[in-house]
Amino acid sequence: MTNQVTLTIDGQEITVAEGTTILEAAAQLGIHIPVICYHPHLTANGLCRICSVDTGGRVQAAACVTPCSQNMQVQTENETVKRSRKTILEMLASTVDLSESPEILDLMSRYQADPARFAGGNQRQSPLYDDNPFYIRDYNKCIDCWRCVQVCAEDAQYAFALSFDGRGFETRIGTFMGHGMMDTTCVFCGQCVGVCPTGALKPKRQSLLEQGVDPNEIFFQTRGKGKKKQKFG
Ligand code: SF4
Ligand code: FES
Repeated sequence: MTNQVTLTIDGQEITVAEGTTILEAAAQLGIHIPVICYHPHLTANGLCRICSVDTGGRVQAAACVTPCSQNMQVQTENETVKRSRKTILEMLASTVDLSESPEILDLMSRYQADPARFAGGNQRQSPLYDDNPFYIRDYNKCIDCWRCVQVCAEDAQYAFALSFDGRGFETRIGTFMGHGMMDTTCVFCGQCVGVCPTGALKPKRQSLLEQGVDPNEIFFQTRGKGKKKQKFG
């Protein structure tokens, strides 16, 4: 039989199976804790810390990876928590281009985060990788959430084409030896593009449409040169 733990979240008592995360228990109570790096179908790594909540300890706990414990008292949205979330968002905005991250922009307005608070901080500088017919990679928009790495690895595809590269501020997503995507183990399933929350990974055709390229031109461009013209219908 599964052991159970009883805790209180925002004043409401709940009993859950041991191992249930605070995020999951809160959801059962209808309490929505904001997330960025977390995705319900992927392994949670607790990287962005936006879901951090106050459990009365010295430091806040990331709700997406912290299991509930007996008699825990959780506050998901007190002043300290809100201030932390605001600062996390402001730091993200100082480093990364969030212009195509609608969920993060919503959080910025919810927590009244000032994108200029850390103006002058180091901006992420990365070339645009346009090295295959299927998707582009713009790591200037990447928040290192690791969703693409997880989905490319054990969580779904087992291709292991993407991984972390660099250290500290220079940590970024990359390929083995920096190879172009066509020279990696990528199978172009598109799952990384589907889980990316920031527009750092984008379908090539979407990118070309946004640039105003004619759809017919896009079709032949992304089919590769030398292909025979095909008719539809
Ligand atoms: S490319 Fe997208 S999914 Fe991958 S780590 Fe960056 S933001 Fe996350
Ligand atoms: S959503 Fe929990 S650490 Fe990112």
